[in-house]
Amino acid sequence: MPEKLADAVARRRTFAIISHPDAGKTTLTEKLLLFGGAIQLAGEVKAKKDRVQTRSDWMKIERERGISVVTSVMTFEYGDHVFNLLDTPGHEDFADDTYRTLTAVDSAVMVIDAAKGIEPRTLKLFEVCRLRDIPIVTFVNKMDRESRDPFEILDEIEQKLALDTAPVTWPIGRGKSFSGTFNLANSTIRRSDADVEPEKVNGPEASQIAEMLPEFERDAFVEEMMLAQEACRPFDMQSFREGHLTPVYFGSALRNFGVRDLIEALGAVGPQPRDQEADRRTVAADEEKMTSFVFKIQANMDPNHRDRIAFVRVCSGKLQRGMKAKLVRTGKPISLSAPQFFFAKSRITADEAFAGDVVGIPNHGTLRIGDTLTEGEELLFRGVPNFAPEILRRVRLGDAMKAKKLKEALQQMAEEGVVQLFTPEDGSPAIVGVVGALQLDVLKERLQNEYSLPVDFEMARFSVCRWISAEDKGELERFISSHRADIARDLDEDPVFLAPHEFGLNYEADRWKQITFKAIKDYQ
Ligand code: G4P
Repeated sequence: MPEKLADAVARRRTFAIISHPDAGKTTLTEKLLLFGGAIQLAGEVKAKKDRVQTRSDWMKIERERGISVVTSVMTFEYGDHVFNLLDTPGHEDFADDTYRTLTAVDSAVMVIDAAKGIEPRTLKLFEVCRLRDIPIVTFVNKMDRESRDPFEILDEIEQKLALDTAPVTWPIGRGKSFSGTFNLANSTIRRSDADVEPEKVNGPEASQIAEMLPEFERDAFVEEMMLAQEACRPFDMQSFREGHLTPVYFGSALRNFGVRDLIEALGAVGPQPRDQEADRRTVAADEEKMTSFVFKIQANMDPNHRDRIAFVRVCSGKLQRGMKAKLVRTGKPISLSAPQFFFAKSRITADEAFAGDVVGIPNHGTLRIGDTLTEGEELLFRGVPNFAPEILRRVRLGDAMKAKKLKEALQQMAEEGVVQLFTPEDGSPAIVGVVGALQLDVLKERLQNEYSLPVDFEMARFSVCRWISAEDKGELERFISSHRADIARDLDEDPVFLAPHEFGLNYEADRWKQITFKAIKDYQ
């Protein structure tokens, strides 16, 4: 019997993992997929670091540098739930990709290294989640190693992130003696992730816990638990859903502790697909009609087939294979003949997908980041952001005969979100903008490999870029015409102001009070 729409939606959990490099995101992902039965052998995700070719490792540059450049999605089931885990690039040069991905999730797992606490990138990504009110579940990893005191870690989360904490599990032992987790909420223990079912015990003094600890640590554990029960907040669903409180789980992804606690928590308290704000109305996740938006484009997932996959997040209804959808930006229909689900190593044709699901739609450049698909309704999802690039370069092409080809190639790269493209009003050569330098390397490599266009980059005389707008269109026109040499158009023909430095920008902003200079532009 086909699944009822509301039931299908209620089963979905769509999340990302946020962390500082080395905290254990890859290891945790691998374990989650393993429990979800999506991969057979631990080590398949990890293989990327060993430079073995895997699906998530299609780009040479990625292999050479051992970093994950691109975002991918992994779908797996555990218990009654369907999980969509959206992976994000670890390197901060690809931060804009990560931010776009966070627009497509309903919750996030924050992985913290138990010895290092909150690190800079965790903080940054947390701030992005907070802006979007994304509820966060915390996993304190590496408890099998020398670590900080759990109370100290909780305190650091509260202080640095201004986020309330509610420890749900507590580590039994630490470092070498770490031997399992105690669930404060329901008084159960797990000796390791091999325990599918947790074991009920009689509180922290239980003999089962004492047996797991060296003698000299037993009293300390009981005391700690008394303090935790007195001093720590209990879990509160509403505060969590509003992003004010994070439930905290302790574990060791590498040694198989606490991962089951975490995945079960995501299922039990993690939010189901949310209702999504659009320009004209809020779209409920269990509405009958399909709506979705593109948050990522990925080219060359399979080097043998020069395909381009648009990752769409379904927001409502049922996305079915073979259906015709309306691409709202152009008003044209698009046939969804081969939507795909992704797993760690493989992809399969998706016959149907529901709100919260992420499917890949193969296309040849029809779809762009930020595009909305509907069953005919004139509706746009907003909020897939575009960040003002921090590095601006002119592209220098050896062979002038290929200028047209370069223009087309750059346009495509910009539509995929690899770089941003700005066309100066004064007719001078195009400027590309990136958030991190590695993006330029990716651009160069792809222009060479896919378009046979060897290019170099030249410094532009600009280093700052802002989208400009004004309530009074006449004022905007006046600004544009008096700064013709410093104005360019982005992919959507929206005007940007280019300045040599912040000082120059501030000077103009001071003089032109009615003009708004924006560092972030939402797509559409
Ligand atoms: P990342 O994706 O967040 O960058 O982290 P990753 O999972 O790659 O983990 C970083 C390092 O930390 C790896 O060691 C990994 O084995 C280790 N690690 C992850 N989780 C745990 C844990 O729970 N306990 C302990 N003790 N170590 C953990 P590496 O030596 O850098 O990599 P490798 O050579 O082992 O692959």
